[in-house]
Amino acid sequence: MDLGIQDRVAVVTAASRGMGRAIAEALAAEGCKLAICSRDSSAIAAAAEAIRGGHGTAVFHKAVDVSDIDALRAFVAEARAALGPVSIAVANAGGPPGGRFENFGAEDWQAAFRLNFLSTWALIESVLPDMRAQRWGRVVSLTSTSVRQPIEGLILSNGVRASVVGMLKTLAAEYGPENILFNNAGPGLIATDRLLSIAQRRADAAGIGRDEMIERLASQTALRRVGQPQEFAAAVAFLCSERASYVTGSSLMIDGGLVKAV
Ligand SMILES: NC(=O)c1ccc[n+]([C@@H]2O[C@H](COP(=O)([O-])OP(=O)(O)OC[C@H]3O[C@@H](n4cnc5c(N)ncnc54)[C@H](OP(=O)(O)O)[C@@H]3O)[C@@H](O)[C@H]2O)c1
Repeated sequence: MDLGIQDRVAVVTAASRGMGRAIAEALAAEGCKLAICSRDSSAIAAAAEAIRGGHGTAVFHKAVDVSDIDALRAFVAEARAALGPVSIAVANAGGPPGGRFENFGAEDWQAAFRLNFLSTWALIESVLPDMRAQRWGRVVSLTSTSVRQPIEGLILSNGVRASVVGMLKTLAAEYGPENILFNNAGPGLIATDRLLSIAQRRADAAGIGRDEMIERLASQTALRRVGQPQEFAAAVAFLCSERASYVTGSSLMIDGGLVKAV
């Protein structure tokens, strides 16, 4: 299927590896011009080089910590100057640390809020004028299945990510008349560095090997396997596309059937 987004400018944050990188690759394969960031300057430069080489598309990159709102705004401004008005924005970031209620104080909650909510807000605030001028826009947040079913031991993520979905659902109604669509994508168990390190920690605690822990986790899904970043990215690329023209305010779990609720 031609997604109909050739030459659109897409911003994908936290995109040097994992799902962000896979989404950037999927959009580049559709002919989008890309602006990508992550904190590590050599990692994001290497990702940009690989995407350019693989797809022959223009890629602007910068080392940015998305928790730094001013840096994020400056990144979008530079991306616009380099590539043109932004049509597509994918808000990704690292995840907040795991733990229970008693492990965290106000500063931890503020840091999690900056990392996962304010970064999404600032990205949207920065790209919205371009989308309004074009009367075309796609915004996708990358959260977690925890927005449907909170995950034990991840109280910061469970608390803050739900607020992202609340904001997007509201924006879908406010900007629907201007043809700007807001959707959320919730990964379940996607085989990235982050999943491997979480699996390793849990395996150590349970006194088993990492592969056995991954099998145990995967057995909770309908498909009995973890997903690949490319499988996640294919669904997000659709949400970013012309073909998703009547999809807004939705929260799509890309989880192989991990969430059990209807
Ligand atoms: N994998 C899963 O199964 C799963 C499930 C549910 C939710 N999630 C969530 O999905 C998101 C992406 O996860 P992933 O598995 O793709 O992770 P990953 O493989 O560890 O990749 C994370 C990416 O984000 C960048 N990054 C991290 N913190 C950043 C920050 N503050 N500012 C800018 N870039 C940042 C990293 O690059 P730098 O290190 O260079 O900054 C890297 O490119 C995370 O929020 C994670 O919690 C993942």
